[in-house]
This record gives sequence, C-alpha cells and structure tokens, in this order.
Amino acid sequence: MRFLALGVLVVSVVSAISTGRIPQGAHIIPVDDQASLSRIGAHRQKYPDRRTVTIRASKNDKDDVAADFLWGIQQANHGGRLLLQKGKTYVIGKKLNLSFLDNIEVQLEGELKFTDDIEYWQANNFYYAFQDSITFWVWGGKDIKIFGHGTLNGNGQAWYNGFAGQEILDPDNTYYRPILFLTDNATRVSVEGITQLNSPCWTNFFVRTNDVSFDNVFINAYSTNASALPKNTDGFDSLNVNGLRVTNTRVDIGDDCFSPKPNTSNIFVQNLWCNNTHGVSMGSIGQYSGVQDIIEHAYIENVTLLNGQNGARLKAWAGQDVGYGRINNITYRNIHIENTDKPVVLDQCYFNVNATECAAYPSAVNVTNIVFDNIYGTSSGKNGKEVVDLTCSPNAVCSGIHLSRINITSPAGSPPVIICDGIQGDIGVNCTSST
Ligand SMILES: *[C@@H]1O[C@H](CO)[C@@H](O)[C@H](O)[C@H]1NC(C)=O
Ligand SMILES: *[C@@H]1O[C@H](CO)[C@@H](O)[C@H](O)[C@H]1NC(C)=O
Ligand SMILES: *[C@@H]1O[C@H](CO)[C@@H](O)[C@H](O)[C@H]1NC(C)=O
Ligand SMILES: *[C@@H]1O[C@H](CO)[C@@H](O)[C@H](O)[C@H]1NC(C)=O
Ligand SMILES: *[C@@H]1O[C@H](CO)[C@@H](O)[C@H](O)[C@H]1NC(C)=O
Ligand SMILES: *[C@@H]1O[C@H](CO)[C@@H](O)[C@H](O)[C@H]1NC(C)=O
Ligand SMILES: *[C@@H]1O[C@H](CO)[C@@H](O)[C@H](O)[C@H]1NC(C)=O
Ligand SMILES: *[C@@H]1O[C@H](CO)[C@@H](O)[C@H](O)[C@H]1NC(C)=O
Ligand SMILES: *[C@@H]1O[C@H](CO)[C@@H](O)[C@H](O)[C@H]1NC(C)=O
Ligand SMILES: *[C@@H]1O[C@H](CO)[C@@H](O)[C@H](O)[C@H]1NC(C)=O
Ligand SMILES: *[C@@H]1O[C@H](CO)[C@@H](O)[C@H](O)[C@H]1NC(C)=O
Repeated sequence: MRFLALGVLVVSVVSAISTGRIPQGAHIIPVDDQASLSRIGAHRQKYPDRRTVTIRASKNDKDDVAADFLWGIQQANHGGRLLLQKGKTYVIGKKLNLSFLDNIEVQLEGELKFTDDIEYWQANNFYYAFQDSITFWVWGGKDIKIFGHGTLNGNGQAWYNGFAGQEILDPDNTYYRPILFLTDNATRVSVEGITQLNSPCWTNFFVRTNDVSFDNVFINAYSTNASALPKNTDGFDSLNVNGLRVTNTRVDIGDDCFSPKPNTSNIFVQNLWCNNTHGVSMGSIGQYSGVQDIIEHAYIENVTLLNGQNGARLKAWAGQDVGYGRINNITYRNIHIENTDKPVVLDQCYFNVNATECAAYPSAVNVTNIVFDNIYGTSSGKNGKEVVDLTCSPNAVCSGIHLSRINITSPAGSPPVIICDGIQGDIGVNCTSST
C-alpha cells in the first residue's frame, strides 16, 4: 500500500512538472508583487527582490518533500529564488542531483532537515572516492547563493550512535556517512547567515569548485548520547578548489574546523572562531599513491581556537604507497589559541603513522614559505611544555618557515618549548630538536 501511494505521488509530481502545473501547496510570486513578497518574508534589504517560489512544508519528520524541493529549485533556477519559510520544516528523504544550477538564490529561513534513514542513505547517495565520501545531494553549476537565518539540519544523532567505536580512516570501514553540503563542478557559490547543524560526517565539502565563500555561518555538531559523540564532522573540506573564503564564522564540532585538502589554492579566512575542534589545518594531503597534491596561497587571520586537539596545523601523509606534493605560501596571523593540546604543529606522519614507520617511509610533501605571526594563548599542557612542534620530513624540503610574536604558555611549566627539526634556515625564534 505504501509503495503504491508513493508511486502515485511521484507520478503526480512528475506529471505536474511536465504539464507545468504547480504542486499542491506551492506558489510562484512574481518579482513585482512586493506586498506578497513582504508578507511571506522574501523581501530582504541586502538581496534585491526576485521571482520567488515557495513549496509546501513537511507535516512531520517522515513527510518527505524532496520532490517538491527539486521542483522549487527548478522553478527558481535562472534568476529566481526558492524561499523556505521561517517556522517551517522541510524534510528531505531522497537524494538530489542539483548539478544544473545557474543563477539561483535559496533563502533559508526555516529548517531543511534530512531523514535519518541510515539504510536508505547508505544505499542511495553520491559517492566520491576521495576518503570514501558520500553525500545526500550535489550542488553544481554557477552563481548559487544560499542565505537566511535558517538551519540546514543533518539530523546526525542516529548516525553518531551507529558509527560509535569506528574510524573513518580505517581501510576496512564501510559505514559511510553523508556530508551535509557538497558542491561539485560549481563556480561562485556563497552561503551566508545560516546554521549548519549535526552533519553525520563532514559539514562542507567543495569539489572542483571555484570561488566559494561562507560568511556569518554557524556550524555545530553535538550529541545527546555521551557514548556516541559526533565524529569527522569537519567544518570545511575541499578538493581541487580555487578560491575559498570563510569569514565571520563560528564552528563548534568534534573534528577539523577548517581543513582544505588536495589542490586548494587562494584561501582566505578571517574572523573564524573554533571550539572543541582539531584546528585550522592545511591538509591532509599526499594520501594517495603516486598522486601529487598541492595547497598554496592561504591567508588565515584573526582566528580563535578553544579547547582543541590542534591549533594551527599543517598535515601530510607518510607511510608506504602514499603521494607527494607541497604546502606553500601559507600565512597564519593573529591567532588566539587556548587550552589546546598542540597549538602549532607540522604533522608529516599523518595519519597515526608511528615513528619507525614514518622514518622508513617519510612524507614527500614539501613545506615552504610558511608564516606564523602573532600566535598567542595557552596549550592544554597535555604535551608538557611543548607548544610548537615543527618536525619536517627528511624526504621533503622544508624552507622559508618564519615564526614571529609567538607567545603561547603551557600550564605544565615554563619556559615553553618550540621544537624544530629538519628545517632549512633560521625560523626566527629559538627552537630545539626533539632528539
Ligand atoms: C547529475 O545530473 C546530470 C544531468 O543534469 C548528470 O550529467 C550527472 O551525471 C548527474 N550526476 C550524478 C553524480 O549522478
Ligand atoms: C561542469 O558544468 C558545466 C556547466 O556549468 C558543464 O558544461 C560541464 O559539462 C560540467 N562538467 C562536468 C565534468 O560535469
Ligand atoms: C548511544 O550510543 C551507543 C553506542 O552506539 C548505543 O549503544 C546506545 O544505544 C545509544 N543510546 C541511545 C539512547 O540511543
Ligand atoms: C576577530 O574575530 C572575532 C570573532 O571570532 C571578532 O569578534 C573580532 O571583532 C575580530 N577582530 C577584528 C580585529 O576584526
Ligand atoms: C566551548 O566548548 C566548551 C566545551 O569544551 C563548552 O563548555 C563551552 O560552552 C563552549 N563555548 C561556547 C562559547 O559555546
Ligand atoms: C591534484 O592535482 C593533480 C594535478 O596537478 C592531480 O594529478 C591529482 O590527482 C589531484 N589530486 C587529487 C587528490 O585529486
Ligand atoms: C601568497 O599568497 C597570497 C594570498 O594569501 C598572494 O597574494 C601572494 O601573491 C602569494 N605569493 C606568492 C609569491 O605567490
Ligand atoms: C619538492 O622539492 C623538490 C626539491 O626542491 C622539488 O624537486 C620538487 O619538485 C618539489 N615538489 C613539489 C610538488 O613542488
Ligand atoms: C608501526 O607501524 C607499523 C605499520 O603499521 C607496524 O608494523 C609496527 O609494528 C609499528 N611499530 C610500533 C613500534 O608500534
Ligand atoms: C605573553 O602573554 C602573556 C599572557 O597573556 C602576557 O602577560 C605577556 O605580556 C605576553 N608577552 C609578550 C612578550 O607579549
Ligand atoms: C635565542 O637565545 C639566545 C641565547 O639564549 C639569545 O641570545 C637570543 O636573543 C635568542 N633569540 C631569539 C630570537 O629569541
């Protein structure tokens, strides 16, 4: 019976689209109907009025409006706007290929929430070989703007419960979890004002994308189950991206706050706040055998990092059958770090490669032209007096590394220790070898 009902629904939506009829509860408001636009909350000072589409909201957590949403996106494409209204919840229970976008706005004032039907999503998703990533939906095309005060909700609790005790980088892991927002083959994407809540896995992943910017976004992942905390809920990840900008954003999640990955260039971060994270990292890169990865031209300014594993980090893979590449021209400036295990760290023995293995198969990722300027605060003391650890791989070039105005203290005692190994030239501060 349920299958029959579903079939009828799909057929009716499809025929509505093909005959140009409007699905139940949906509306299209012309750009010159200012009174209606104001009434529904689509009139916003910063964003000139557009032809605006609304769709019906969900009646409950299982009332999937994916087909209505797709219809709304199609109607709003080419110069219009899809409005998801304040106080309403829109449940998405089917995967969506949104690769056809061209000049669209999505005004998110309500809540867009994914179902937590783990069985469905693990069988129906978009898969990327890079770290076996999957996603609910793919956004592609050009001139895509998402803004508003609403929430994109990954409904992650069931995923956190289900994944407890497992590791994403375990080669045997097959329990894949969806990424909350993913762009692929996209140009000029901007996201402003919204909250991204409880992603099952990474929160944002940009693939083959140019010019993506986030402003004034709040990213949060939390669990109500103490034995199943959110894992790998990274704020920002990227692959083959040119132009990545994050400003005025807050991130409180259990993994990397901001961590561009292979082939990301022209990165700008300003006024970022990270709580409980694994820090602002360049990488990891150099993971895949024979593959060259590059991260370069990044300017990271005014970041606050609280209660984390790492603060400012560079990370590259070592071990058998890994890749090579470079992390080049990176500036970290005005970085406030508190209660963090490793405030400043270069890890070229990623991921968890032990010292013996790392010495036998060192990283081949060069680390060049890196500035750490005005980095201050405290470590957690978990690594004793050590507050900076820059240990370069013997199999790569480490040069042009400059530290200035470093004032990080450790509760484990003073003076704080700065480790430097394998770096060519003076790094600007007194440092000691780890051996
Ligand atoms: C998404 O749809 C486009 C056509 O609009 C198609 O070319 C593309 O292969 C689809 N992507 C995926 C991942 O299925
Ligand atoms: C990328 O998107 C453009 C349109 O924006 C399209 O012409 C092209 O085929 C897409 N490329 C791939 C690999 O999907
Ligand atoms: C919390 O997570 C654990 C580990 O997956 C699970 O066994 C337990 O049932 C969860 N508790 C609740 C209340 O869901
Ligand atoms: C630095 O960022 C914080 C947000 O984390 C912001 O409140 C503050 O105004 C910024 N400082 C400057 C000088 O812009
Ligand atoms: C930061 O995280 C800690 C837990 O580590 C929490 O107690 C605190 O409230 C968070 N700070 C803010 C401002 O949310
Ligand atoms: C990075 O770009 C290079 C080309 O410069 C390409 O060969 C490599 O596959 C890319 N890395 C990844 C992980 O896609
Ligand atoms: C280094 O990166 C910055 C952007 O942060 C860029 O403006 C500058 O031109 C780059 N320098 C070199 C030598 O490429
Ligand atoms: C790393 O440095 C070596 C020595 O300068 C150079 O030959 C190699 O091309 C560099 N690798 C990359 C990916 O830039
Ligand atoms: C280091 O890692 C290698 C490869 O995983 C393993 O074979 C070896 O036993 C480990 N050595 C130590 C001292 O843990
Ligand atoms: C370093 O930070 C401490 C604690 O914030 C402060 O008292 C001290 O003046 C700073 N030292 C320098 C040289 O800035
Ligand atoms: C490094 O230590 C030496 C000896 O303690 C001292 O003379 C010098 O000023 C220190 N240099 C810097 C950059 O702190």
